[in-house]
Amino acid sequence: MEKISILFLSLCFLLVTSNAYRATMFRSSSSSTSFSPSPSPSPTPSSPSDNSPFAWKNGSSVCNPGRFESLGLDMEKLGFCDKSLPFEVRAKELIDRMTLDEKIGQLGDITYGVPRLGLPQYNWWSEALHGVSNVGHATFFDNTTVPGATSFPTVILTSASFNESLWKRIGQVVSTEARAMYNLGVAGLTFWSPNINVVRDPRWGRTLETPGEDPFVVGTYAVNYVRGLQDVEGFENPSDLNSRPLKVAACCKHYAAYDVDNWFGVDRYHFNAKVTEQDMTETFLAPFEMCVKEGDVSSVMCSYNQVNGIPTCADPKLLKQTIRDEWGLHGYIVSDCDSIEEIYKHQQWLTDTQEESVAQVLKAGLDLDCGMYYTNFTKNAVVKGKVRERDIDNALRNLYVVLMRLGFFDGSPLFESLHKDDICSEEHIELAAEAAREGIVLLKNDNYSLPLRPELYKYKTIAIIGPHANATDAMIGNYAGVPCRHTSPLDGFNGTTNVIFEPGCLDIACKNETHIFKAMQAAKKADATIIFAGIDLSVEAESLDRVNLSLPGYQEQLINQTAMAAKGPVILVILSAGGIDIGFAKGNPSISSIIWAGYPGEEGGKAIADVIYGNYNPGGRLPVTWFEANYVDQLPMTSMPLRPIDELGYPGRTYKFFNGSTVYPFGYGLSYSTFNYTLPASKRAMNLKLSRHQHCRNLNYTDGAYRPPCPSILVDDIQCKDEFAFDVQVQNNGNIDGNHVIMVYSKPPNNIVGTHLKKVIGFKRVAIPARESQTVNFKFNICKSLGIVDFAANHVVPSGEHTIILDNGVDATTFPLHIYLAKD
Ligand SMILES: *[C@@H]1O[C@H](CO)[C@@H](O)[C@H](O)[C@H]1NC(C)=O
Ligand SMILES: *[C@@H]1O[C@H](CO)[C@@H](O)[C@H](O)[C@H]1NC(C)=O
Ligand SMILES: *[C@@H]1O[C@H](CO)[C@@H](O)[C@H](O)[C@H]1NC(C)=O
Ligand SMILES: *[C@@H]1O[C@H](CO)[C@@H](O)[C@H](O)[C@H]1NC(C)=O
Ligand SMILES: *[C@@H]1O[C@H](CO)[C@@H](O)[C@H](O)[C@H]1NC(C)=O
Ligand SMILES: *[C@@H]1O[C@H](CO)[C@@H](O)[C@H](O)[C@H]1NC(C)=O
Ligand SMILES: *[C@@H]1O[C@H](CO)[C@@H](O)[C@H](O)[C@H]1NC(C)=O
Ligand SMILES: *[C@@H]1O[C@H](CO)[C@@H](O)[C@H](O)[C@H]1NC(C)=O
Ligand SMILES: *[C@@H]1O[C@H](CO)[C@@H](O)[C@H](O)[C@H]1NC(C)=O
Ligand SMILES: *[C@@H]1O[C@H](CO)[C@@H](O)[C@H](O)[C@H]1NC(C)=O
Ligand SMILES: *[C@@H]1O[C@H](CO)[C@@H](O)[C@H](O)[C@H]1NC(C)=O
Ligand SMILES: *[C@@H]1O[C@H](CO)[C@@H](O)[C@H](O)[C@H]1NC(C)=O
Repeated sequence: MEKISILFLSLCFLLVTSNAYRATMFRSSSSSTSFSPSPSPSPTPSSPSDNSPFAWKNGSSVCNPGRFESLGLDMEKLGFCDKSLPFEVRAKELIDRMTLDEKIGQLGDITYGVPRLGLPQYNWWSEALHGVSNVGHATFFDNTTVPGATSFPTVILTSASFNESLWKRIGQVVSTEARAMYNLGVAGLTFWSPNINVVRDPRWGRTLETPGEDPFVVGTYAVNYVRGLQDVEGFENPSDLNSRPLKVAACCKHYAAYDVDNWFGVDRYHFNAKVTEQDMTETFLAPFEMCVKEGDVSSVMCSYNQVNGIPTCADPKLLKQTIRDEWGLHGYIVSDCDSIEEIYKHQQWLTDTQEESVAQVLKAGLDLDCGMYYTNFTKNAVVKGKVRERDIDNALRNLYVVLMRLGFFDGSPLFESLHKDDICSEEHIELAAEAAREGIVLLKNDNYSLPLRPELYKYKTIAIIGPHANATDAMIGNYAGVPCRHTSPLDGFNGTTNVIFEPGCLDIACKNETHIFKAMQAAKKADATIIFAGIDLSVEAESLDRVNLSLPGYQEQLINQTAMAAKGPVILVILSAGGIDIGFAKGNPSISSIIWAGYPGEEGGKAIADVIYGNYNPGGRLPVTWFEANYVDQLPMTSMPLRPIDELGYPGRTYKFFNGSTVYPFGYGLSYSTFNYTLPASKRAMNLKLSRHQHCRNLNYTDGAYRPPCPSILVDDIQCKDEFAFDVQVQNNGNIDGNHVIMVYSKPPNNIVGTHLKKVIGFKRVAIPARESQTVNFKFNICKSLGIVDFAANHVVPSGEHTIILDNGVDATTFPLHIYLAKD
């Protein structure tokens, strides 16, 4: 998201005074014609003084008597500062005091504030995808105040840990650093993260930002990360969720069916995603529903694209009806940056004027515009009778309640002591290393050639090869800030042994093969060779989808030839978000081991070295399918359906619907140990009794297949408290302590047409010492875990024999679970 010109950004960096002053500067170049709210904020460029009572000070809050006094205002008379009143009442009191022009001045992401009322300006746009970022207008780094913040691995790698408590813990650490930066006057309180779009297609350029291809895993990540960012300990579930305090505000984006960035000229600003109701419910909306209902997120961002011909930000069914009414959002809905302008200018959707576009999105339920369209055109939209002032009041109420929950008005005593020392602390940096270690996936390990035992390699020579061998910025990915420091792969090994560094390719594109020779010579000399290959933001990024699944340029030659020349074991380390067809290396006996390390964040090099030396036993699992290269020749990226389309020869998408061969499947991952499962007898059949008013629903079965008398039942119709549970004993058969993820899938009864092949219903990561075993228990709700989404987008539970699959990363243990549906 977030279109922004380079000029705009650089302007942002120059203006490192108070936020109020920066906002004034932005707008001063554009003194408005169509927009005429009374005075802009008081500080002028010539006096950007922090002494201005209006400027934002460290830890200050709106309802501060001293502030009002210096403004010549009596706070006692202002109901919005009356702490005895509920937030909604205070927000209404504030909004009722504003003129229409003043109200409109608060609807863009850089607000004007209302000097007359002592309401300061606020910049809504900050980002914290995997650490506090400087993308946006509110948050920045400089060498005097805060030079950097902890940069965790990109989300795709953190996701691969399948460790819910890690996901939440990272959120907590990021929000601690964010609060500290807010106290120092260099960050906002509203962060437009995480990105929870499902990776429908392996070419998607923003895969690195997301938790992968499974909607349930993505939703579970969202719930944990959002709770980590937002929750204030002890106030997680109060009776009134509209007054629940927030540490910082998170935002689940981009809603919805957003996953084409720029593919052969089809870009996100113009793309119309043609989506069936079935896919919408089952895949595209599911993580957002979890984010709102289970994560209680305080914001959702609508996307640039259209869904079935309607821009998402202008669709009342998607916004108001679904997010707010059906799911019960406590918070605000924001547009992706300049979305409204895109709707008017490029999509030209139903509208011939800017006012019309503004009216449409406001009425659809869009509260905040990242951009200038609300600011510039809402006045005329009201004057021309296209939208009611009441709609503006509603939007503002949603916004101010969130700011009140954040302590923007009353302060946040719990967080006011957070300071510079709370940013980039040793503990936080160590968590960044831990996250990378937990996510790293071991893909191949012939003859257990890894770990490299330090006693064998410590005083020997290791060749460090490949275009990512000294990766620094590449490890950080996008939506990053300035990291506390970098530990590149080279740094990770330097000092542990004699290192010969010979990149072999000058960059990721690797267009020049002449450098390969030196890499071969290094490998020939060394006792072990580690090749760091892969891709980076020059291949997969925002506004840049991939066109193939291969390594760029001469990278494959580099790997082949170095491996052939090598004297010792060869370890290939891939840095990427999306899967790469490395079938050539998988099948090559002279490459003994392969590791996927995502983009591993600021401590990535250390984490990789810890895994290779066996200081850490890897347990990560692939969060996306690694398809073979020809997969992308079989279907265009723009075809949205998840299910195969036989007439067009399109294979299905994601492990849930794709049945063909892969380089590595979703969920794959090895360890230096092996793990097996023992399942004690558990319940293998369940009866769901239907009441008199409940109907059996039909399902489509393959020709000639047995069709049960009661094929399925609608989930909405039943209470559905029924659960099934089991204990699994997990044995670590190795001589090394292990970290193991148990992934549980359900597979629907055979012969039902159009269902998923299987779906993840749960997972747990456990630490199991060498040669020991541990009992892990699972409990599932029948409807959530055995349900399918039928052709008409209903959640139904089919009767018949379901299969429960327990996947240890390599193979599976299964047991049947028979569901009987019967009338009383
Ligand atoms: C908003 O109005 C200002 C002042 O007229 C103008 O400079 C700016 O370009 C406008 N922005 C948009 C997106 O219309
Ligand atoms: C801090 O200073 C260094 C050296 O001048 C510079 O390279 C870096 O960009 C500065 N960092 C920030 C956040 O401005
Ligand atoms: C999961 O993450 C938590 C929080 O970082 C960590 O303490 C725990 O050891 C991790 N569990 C496993 C099995 O790796
Ligand atoms: C914020 O606090 C820091 C650290 O106490 C101080 O150095 C800085 O000058 C303060 N900034 C403002 C705007 O008060
Ligand atoms: C590794 O990268 C860093 C940062 O870009 C650079 O300063 C350093 O010189 C590089 N090391 C080598 C050996 O090229
Ligand atoms: C290894 O570390 C030493 C000491 O910090 C440094 O002088 C040397 O340049 C490093 N070598 C490489 C290849 O980065
Ligand atoms: C490849 O690199 C070599 C050595 O640096 C250089 O002499 C040659 O011109 C390069 N070739 C191309 C096509 O860039
Ligand atoms: C595959 O994509 C990469 C990255 O865009 C590009 O460098 C390379 O040339 C492509 N390879 C082929 C065979 O098209
Ligand atoms: C690399 O080696 C594999 C066999 O191990 C071969 O199939 C593949 O074509 C080779 N690739 C290149 C670019 O030489
Ligand atoms: C692995 O072991 C087998 C059997 O001992 C041997 O044939 C093979 O060459 C070994 N592979 C590697 C990569 O060492
Ligand atoms: C697990 O593996 C161990 C060691 O190979 C074996 O003794 C045991 O029977 C296995 N258990 C199951 C349930 O397969
Ligand atoms: C069966 O499939 C057809 C389309 O192939 C669809 O129209 C019909 O609604 C489906 N029936 C059920 C019960 O899902």
